[in-house]
Amino acid sequence: MKIKSICCIGAGYVGGPTMAVIALKCPEIRVVVVDNNSDKINQWNNSDLNNLPVYEPGLREIIKKTRNKNLFFSNEIDSAIQESEMIFLAVNTPTKKTGKGAGMASDLTYIEKAAIKIAEVSKTNKIIVEKSTLPVRTAEKIKEILTSNSNNISFEVLSNPEFLAEGTAIDDLFKSDRVLIGGDQTPSGFKAINSLKEIYLKWIPENKILTLNVWSSELSKLASNAMLAQRISSINSLSALCEKTGADIDEVSRAIGMDCRIGPKFLKVSPGFGGSCFKKDILNLVYLCRFYNLDEVADYWLKVVEINNYQMHRIVLKIENYFSSISQKKEISILGWAFKKDTNDSRESASIYITSKLLERGFVVNIYDPMVTSKRIINDLVDYNNNPKDIILNKNVNIYTDFNKILSSKSVFAILTEWDDFTDLNNIKKNKVIFDFRNMLDKKAVEYRF
Ligand code: NAD
Ligand code: UGA
Repeated sequence: MKIKSICCIGAGYVGGPTMAVIALKCPEIRVVVVDNNSDKINQWNNSDLNNLPVYEPGLREIIKKTRNKNLFFSNEIDSAIQESEMIFLAVNTPTKKTGKGAGMASDLTYIEKAAIKIAEVSKTNKIIVEKSTLPVRTAEKIKEILTSNSNNISFEVLSNPEFLAEGTAIDDLFKSDRVLIGGDQTPSGFKAINSLKEIYLKWIPENKILTLNVWSSELSKLASNAMLAQRISSINSLSALCEKTGADIDEVSRAIGMDCRIGPKFLKVSPGFGGSCFKKDILNLVYLCRFYNLDEVADYWLKVVEINNYQMHRIVLKIENYFSSISQKKEISILGWAFKKDTNDSRESASIYITSKLLERGFVVNIYDPMVTSKRIINDLVDYNNNPKDIILNKNVNIYTDFNKILSSKSVFAILTEWDDFTDLNNIKKNKVIFDFRNMLDKKAVEYRF
């Protein structure tokens, strides 16, 4: 069946960019992206393309070409569901905060609510596509919700996990390494798989589209994130050994990566991986392993998160040790709040942890990021510390929106995000002490690096 109308529930970092690319590549399909956060929808509809809720290189240009032609952002969820043949679920799946599995399992309430809504309002058969990252066997649960609430309408549930990385989302979507489509191995399941495959074939070569069973597709997504994060924890753990032995982690990383069986990617030392997914997906994997009584496997993957915490904590101690060796006011300027460059997303950014711990230790912290708003930085600190008064009322946090102004501060600097703006040494005035935790600057220019 050729799909002519798509609805996507969830207008976030995945829903927005993925639907924009589908709308661009398939002008004959009407794509409606809905969200229950009306501020976000208003932002997507903002005539000023500099104020979209998601910053991604290349996204503005696509929105300009497609918005209100075949791509629409709306909070009229019921009608968007009713008018579509295929519905993508791109809602958030954060780690559960309370109840069974709190702190480990993914919170599926957003997915469940979306499924209940689809079942309630649908009047025609639909293909439901899991775009969110979900624990293996969630499709079964979604199908249960859909069938128990609907009036003899048939639903096919596909798993089509997203592999884009923030900051390079558009490029990743244009040139995906692979697209997974998991579906029931039944005649109607195969039909649904083919309908989604036809959409991707508009720009993805057939040999990169892998059709597989739903459970393999769901698990492959969790496993891919776990393997990527594992590489980062491996290199970060070795950075500690390099410091003890005089080896240089950059040289070691390069040497390891030249082995074509290993490859050079994801071997860059850092203050620890951030982002909304690596930690949550590994914890979810750990929870699943424990559920199936695979404790050894669970412990193995948990270590990846523990090493990440260790790395962030090491950075805090390094900064503190430096200050205890000199008689200087404990003031530091943090360059970079986003969890990586080219995104305005700061979820789980190492900067949040490092700043919070430095504040606890009596530091004055100045903060600058080219894309993360001051409001978001404050919210991050308030959420993390669970005590708004401490953060907002004390005067130990100064947020700068002007790069040159923060550079003129007399403090010590710490680079925590690899924004291109921070690589140009000419910009960073002489006689500054710079802790380069992203290994971006010339060795001679910095006081401390890994
Ligand atoms: P997000 O928080 O940016 O966006 C999710 C959106 O869904 C929010 O705007 C929220 O308001 C909306 N929403 C939640 N429940 C809703 C409901 N019932 N009805 C309507 N709207 C609802 O999250 P995200 O970063 O886009 O991630 C979404 C999913 O994709 C997660 O499962 C994540 O693990 C996965 N993923 C994320 C990335 C990434 O780079 N961010 C990459 C691949 C996969
Ligand atoms: C990651 C995966 O790369 C995507 O494939 C996946 O779709 C996505 O998670 C998801 O499921 O959400 P993302 O978190 O957006 O993408 O960004 P990455 O480029 O993977 O970076 C994650 C973190 O690891 C960042 O903090 C980054 O600075 C850090 N990192 C990355 C390192 O510390 N070293 C490296 O060598 C690479």
